[in-house]
Amino acid sequence: MLLLGIETSCDDTATAIVRDATTVLSNVSTNQDEFHARYGGIVPEIASRRHTALLSAAIEDALGRAKTPLADLDGIAVTAGPGLIGSLVVGVAAAKALAFAINKPLYAVNHLHGHIFAAFLDDPEPPRYPFLALLVSGGHSQLVAVESPLEMRILGKTRDDAAGEAFDKTARLLGLPYPGGPQLDALARDGDPSAIRFPRHRPDPGTLDLSFSGLKTSVRYFLESERGKSARPADVAASFQAAVVDILIDRLDRVVTQNRFELAVLSGGVAANSALQRAFRAWGERNDIRTVIPPPRYCTDNAAMIAAAADRQGAAVRSNPETLGADPNLSFIFPRISGE
Ligand code: KG4
Ligand code: ZN
Repeated sequence: MLLLGIETSCDDTATAIVRDATTVLSNVSTNQDEFHARYGGIVPEIASRRHTALLSAAIEDALGRAKTPLADLDGIAVTAGPGLIGSLVVGVAAAKALAFAINKPLYAVNHLHGHIFAAFLDDPEPPRYPFLALLVSGGHSQLVAVESPLEMRILGKTRDDAAGEAFDKTARLLGLPYPGGPQLDALARDGDPSAIRFPRHRPDPGTLDLSFSGLKTSVRYFLESERGKSARPADVAASFQAAVVDILIDRLDRVVTQNRFELAVLSGGVAANSALQRAFRAWGERNDIRTVIPPPRYCTDNAAMIAAAADRQGAAVRSNPETLGADPNLSFIFPRISGE
């Protein structure tokens, strides 16, 4: 299947042409960081206006780079949620109009499913089910057992901040420019991860759930303390990052005491983090689990992953271009995932 993917759930205006859920013929993404940086975070109204300005050109660009005429497409895949409503609406409206105009199927994709299937882009080997996905992005942190493209179980999730949100907020405390996650990662490279022992909070020991807001607050208190005022920012960054990584690896260790997986994927924007990548690979080796980490262009928001998820889920996510709506809280289009 040859699909055009459209992703506008947050602040990246992204389009892609993907064949058979794996071969990426083009992958176009325009980030809007320069428009949001001065506010220290994403301003939803600015995000949707930028999508409106950029999306038509981004669609043409993806088709042009892939040398694909519209008529060759087998369908259009679009993120229908979760995300910022104004941003989602722009992508969904464009996808509906295009599907209607060229009379091709429309597929409505859950953004989180996109992150999960991003792991198999450019990979000729199909995923073997079940596999485990650690999904860590700016909006979500979840451990998901993926039984099939249409059956997933959430094993644990964050009770408060997402991992990426914790990175961004902590980066801000350190005075780093937006977006903070990659900046903090870079700063941490010169730091000592054992310089400060930040707490590794476990919100509910009976579950595999996560919590990051206490960690961020600990960093704030530390920076306000006498010791914090003279601490090296690189050491604070590295120590914070080590705490996030330890929390995530602890939950992975617990998962494998209860479930057997042969494959685990790391996905979402925070999957680009160098310390987490190293720890995740080492965890896989210790437990004899094959690990897959998509390259950075597929870790952060992109449209290739949306086309890939639509292809793998097929008819189950096919939607009517006259009635499809965007849903900011979309837990799942299909199937209903247990644990949500
Ligand atoms: O998946 P994504 O692009 O958007 C959402 O769906 O949320 O994730 C963006 C998040 C941001 O919080 C960003 O700071 C974080 O991923 N991020 C990183 C790194 N690269 C991106 N966090 C830590 N280290 C990185 N290298
Ligand atoms: Zn995302």
